[in-house]
Amino acid sequence: MKKNLTKQQQDEQAYLDNITKLSFRNVTWTRKKLVEVRDALSPWNHNIRLPHKVYTAYVEDYYPSHKEIMKIVSHQLQGNFKKKRIVDIGCLEGYFSAECALQGASVLGVEGKAKNLKKCEFVKSALKIRNLDFVQDDAMKVTKKKYGGFDAALVLGLLYHLDDPFTFLENMAGLCNGFMLLDTHVSLPVIPKIGDWTPELTEMKEFKHKGKTYQGRHFVEFNPNTPQLTKDLSTTASLVNDLSVWLTEDSLVSLLHDVGFEQVSKMVFPRKDNTWWTDDKINARVLMVCVKKRDRWRSKISNTWKD
Ligand SMILES: C[S@@+](CC[C@H](N)C(=O)[O-])C[C@H]1O[C@@H](n2cnc3c(N)ncnc32)[C@H](O)[C@@H]1O
Repeated sequence: MKKNLTKQQQDEQAYLDNITKLSFRNVTWTRKKLVEVRDALSPWNHNIRLPHKVYTAYVEDYYPSHKEIMKIVSHQLQGNFKKKRIVDIGCLEGYFSAECALQGASVLGVEGKAKNLKKCEFVKSALKIRNLDFVQDDAMKVTKKKYGGFDAALVLGLLYHLDDPFTFLENMAGLCNGFMLLDTHVSLPVIPKIGDWTPELTEMKEFKHKGKTYQGRHFVEFNPNTPQLTKDLSTTASLVNDLSVWLTEDSLVSLLHDVGFEQVSKMVFPRKDNTWWTDDKINARVLMVCVKKRDRWRSKISNTWKD
């Protein structure tokens, strides 16, 4: 135990160490055992139904937005998950990874934080999903060279935690053979109030990357000098960086095109549906289907309109 830690930090470190040591190999899951591990790993963000009617988030239904995301993934795959390779980056507790795997895809969930990864491993073990792997890695290190190509990349609630969305999206364009589903916050002309939360954002700035200029704000993830242990236990925040970048929607769309996503479709919803993307002026959040290469097209009328 490190001596310069406060009592609270020592307890937190011990808690994290104990969680990291948990192994779910060859466990026979009774209801009692599921509840015990679920509670030891709580609180939960993703609601996942485990055997014996045990729900990770203690309720039977949760997050209509999750359902919408899965409907879009399914639509893009034309309902056929089999023989598809999907990567879910910043997978948190593994709901989207597990759902895609149960639908038949071969799935890699990438998560940066040890506590989240342990929850993912628990879900995989409890649901006995074989075509699902989880790794602990930094999203910035997810490249085609390291993990191969994927038919679909799920980048949900992650981009706005990164301080280099430019390199990350270049990497995504490199590994994505089909589509990337991107759910992220964007910077608005004024700082928004999102429900009860006013994100701590700087003034609008210019970011330069490979000779191009993009607009956005820095978002304060952590105050300077925040201990890494606090960051490790902040399970939905950035890994290490104190600041992340929220681009404006226009700059984000430009960047997506610049890195090679030729077709970017923004998904929109009526207010009554109350999704996270119902009104991007209020939620400062967008959902986009990004496709790398559209089919070749040649006009029968114009000689100059061809791919
Ligand atoms: C807001 S949560 C979103 C989780 C999930 N994708 C969803 O939509 O419900 C952000 C997740 O990204 C992870 N994360 C943040 N920065 C990361 C990074 N650089 N590499 C890997 N994971 C990261 C966090 O640990 C957390 O699990």
